[in-house]
Amino acid sequence: MNPIFADLPTTIFEEMSVLARSHDAINLGQGFPDDPGPEDVRRKAADAVMDGNNQYPSMMGIPELRAAIAAHYAAHQGLTLDPNTEVMVTSGATEAIAGALFALLSPGDEVVIFEPAYDAYGPLIRRAGGVVRAVKLQPPHWKMTEAAIRAALSPRTRVVLLNNPLNPAGVVYGVDDLAILAKALEGNDAVVVSDEVWEHVVFDGLRHVSVLNVPGLRDRAVKIGSAGKIFCLTGWKVGFVAAAPHLLKALAKAHQFLTFTTPPNLQVAVAYGLAKPEAHFAAMRADLQGKRDHLARGLTSAGFDVLNSAGTYFINVDLAPKGLTDDAAFCRRLVKEAGVAAIPVSAFYGNGDMRTVVRFCFAKKEATLDEAVRRLVAAAPKLV
Ligand SMILES: Cc1ncc(COP(=O)(O)O)c(C=O)c1O
Repeated sequence: MNPIFADLPTTIFEEMSVLARSHDAINLGQGFPDDPGPEDVRRKAADAVMDGNNQYPSMMGIPELRAAIAAHYAAHQGLTLDPNTEVMVTSGATEAIAGALFALLSPGDEVVIFEPAYDAYGPLIRRAGGVVRAVKLQPPHWKMTEAAIRAALSPRTRVVLLNNPLNPAGVVYGVDDLAILAKALEGNDAVVVSDEVWEHVVFDGLRHVSVLNVPGLRDRAVKIGSAGKIFCLTGWKVGFVAAAPHLLKALAKAHQFLTFTTPPNLQVAVAYGLAKPEAHFAAMRADLQGKRDHLARGLTSAGFDVLNSAGTYFINVDLAPKGLTDDAAFCRRLVKEAGVAAIPVSAFYGNGDMRTVVRFCFAKKEATLDEAVRRLVAAAPKLV
């Protein structure tokens, strides 16, 4: 077996899920909603299975969906994309990320990532022959600085892999932060691969800024999205890639031998969903923001130091003020003693070297959040 995968330990996600089941815990570790998702979008997918085409669709994605992606990003992010040469559909954002890395990297090339980083990045970079160079972000603000980015860059940097909004930190990088990134990249020809799967899940009136809107980055960046996150249908695994034609062409070559295509009925339904009015997306955000606030209040009442969450399905607590320095050990105690599962954020650092933050998912029914908070408050005297 390839050592990159053979040597991977059981992930903390798996460990916490097993522990959650054996302790009958409320699982706020898993990052998906317990809501069925928009009925009209699901109905469209069901109808398309019965009435539509179920054979291999176009490798780049059905024209109807590519047009819908371009129109959606024009309406919501002010982007101008040619659906024929700048948009591709993939089987989830994860396939898009893998395809981008396989297409862009040669053995020994370096990839700058920002930790905490989504767990797939490291293994995929290494399997593509790349070398990870991590910029380590720190709570409570998780700010990137020009100096830290420059320190991670080298003449071998081929890709800078950004995740904005950032899971698990819940931070949303705006125009100023992206300008810092663009400045740091002056004089270097790395491609920016921007994982923007959380683009619609931003709160407090914030608007997502795509890397493709940043002066100087439009022609050297790849934007990745996910219908799973946009419609709270995480199992659908329909992703999108948007990039200048010369980049998209290269990425399509990797995509054609990874999954080649994506279920046509889901593409039809996603095309329909992307054309929904702004009110739909605003309501989804408002619902999740209410859940965020609900869990934040509950965590505070249980004595936790809650960090700001400006986006994603996640909110974090900082253990450092309590003098606790082992987030994984804390999560094991939490599931056993309180009956609530969460994720230690050290799992998102290559060396596990930031060990004082714990992530909770709030995309759950209010009753589930209430019961989790009741348990946390009851167990608090033993825990923090
Ligand atoms: C940062 C990030 N990228 C990618 C994904 C996966 O997206 P998809 O399900 O579309 O592959 C996730 C899912 O949680 C994520 O948080």
